[in-house]
Amino acid sequence: MSSARITVDPHFSIGAVRRALFGGFVEHLGRHVYDGIYEPGHESADADGFRRDVVDLVKELGVSTIRYPGGNFVSGFRWEDSVGPREQRPRRLDLAWHSTETNEVGLHEFQEWLDKVGSELMLAVNLGTRGTLEALDLLEYSNIPDGTALSEQRKANGRTDPFGVKVWCLGNEMDGPWQLGHRSADDYGKIASQTAKAMRQLDPSIQLVACGSSSAHMPTFGEWERVVLTHAYDDVDMISCHAYYEERNGDLGSFLASAVDMDGFIETVVATADHVKAVKGSDKQIDISFDEWNVWYIDRFHNVDKIEGLDNWPIAPRLLEDVYSVADAVVFGNLMISLLKHADRVASASLAQLVNVIAPIMTEPGGPAWRQTTFYPFSITSRLARGEALQLKLEAPTYSTEAYGDVPLVDAVATHDAQAGATAIFLVNRSQTEALTVTADVSSLGDVAITETHTLADDDVYAKNTLEDRERVAPRPNDSAGVADGTLTITLPPVSWTAIALS
Ligand code: AHR
Repeated sequence: MSSARITVDPHFSIGAVRRALFGGFVEHLGRHVYDGIYEPGHESADADGFRRDVVDLVKELGVSTIRYPGGNFVSGFRWEDSVGPREQRPRRLDLAWHSTETNEVGLHEFQEWLDKVGSELMLAVNLGTRGTLEALDLLEYSNIPDGTALSEQRKANGRTDPFGVKVWCLGNEMDGPWQLGHRSADDYGKIASQTAKAMRQLDPSIQLVACGSSSAHMPTFGEWERVVLTHAYDDVDMISCHAYYEERNGDLGSFLASAVDMDGFIETVVATADHVKAVKGSDKQIDISFDEWNVWYIDRFHNVDKIEGLDNWPIAPRLLEDVYSVADAVVFGNLMISLLKHADRVASASLAQLVNVIAPIMTEPGGPAWRQTTFYPFSITSRLARGEALQLKLEAPTYSTEAYGDVPLVDAVATHDAQAGATAIFLVNRSQTEALTVTADVSSLGDVAITETHTLADDDVYAKNTLEDRERVAPRPNDSAGVADGTLTITLPPVSWTAIALS
């Protein structure tokens, strides 16, 4: 059996684990809102039409901030459609997903749902087909207490207190040719800067996110960030990264190493932001909002799900309903490790998405709600990762991948909460054939005991949770773990994700 060694030392802090790292994303897309979080006819629905079983699962997942209402959807969205008396709200074509948006759930209803799940609103403004004025209107409607046309309109619509939205995304994926209103970096940088300045004039307390690249493989990657930040550096707080991973052409080895790509993506964007900082002679730091990340089988959307036709604009169609395997969850858990490893510069992150649409939670209309495999790495990491993220010394054997060359078989990160005396270690074994023994030097933590272990693995790495078999896959305690004389040992099965809690 191969082995790996790690050293966990609380002196090597990367940065604070901000709760905003455990954000989510709800887009008006497919069955996410309608027949997902909202299903008035469902037996578990509350008086507002929201499914209680879904609320409970979202709470268990442990999501902090939730980005809303898109995504590609936002670039065709008129926010005014989504407020006011429901019976007067217009039905609109959603060009991004070739669907009909009924606006039955809008800004007020979504905030009510957030109050139920205990998460905070992060709003995206439409800079695709709209501009600065509409962004200002939405900000006034949301954050001004009273005494103006739009704040009074909000009050008349039933919300006395402002929404008080702190974080705002300046558009969505404006580098993508698929985006309504797609722009060049130069054009987008200018509008992002102007809009940011205007929004701050209205509410100086807000945080603003400029659109970065839709993936590290966009032809404009790197240059996009440089040009956008050259225009908007002084006006924004964060630049976004989006990344989706999938197993391509049966190459599981490369897929399992997807976090290598995420590591490089983050480090390149940090380097580019710091380059612009140096050129400007600025003492301000731009951080990253990794506001879309997940495993997503995108080809399936293009080849199977795609809706077309002038007379075919369904309401809440089944779109992007990926069913995740054990291997997907291991990659997913590794992406969370990557985010934590960059906790110094990734200030915020949003798992895309939450319910039914490339989601950790699935529902059936009139039927149950259940956890996908990816639910577990998120809920456990969100619960256990506290305090500071720690840089580990990691020595592990490597394997060769088509996509990323030689890659360590093990990836890991730890967090340490000095006040609570709690440490957590998160690990993956990327080997498809071999269990790996990990020996961790934890002597600098003092006298510690293991309080929890969770390992997600299966003899069938493609095992999934489905409507018919909703609990086929779940993490199990890892009985191989032990700690004595400052050394922790644990065996990681092939293709596995593990969390260990120590106190
Ligand atoms: O999350 C699904 C889609 O992926 C989002 O709408 C878009 O921003 C990205 O391309």
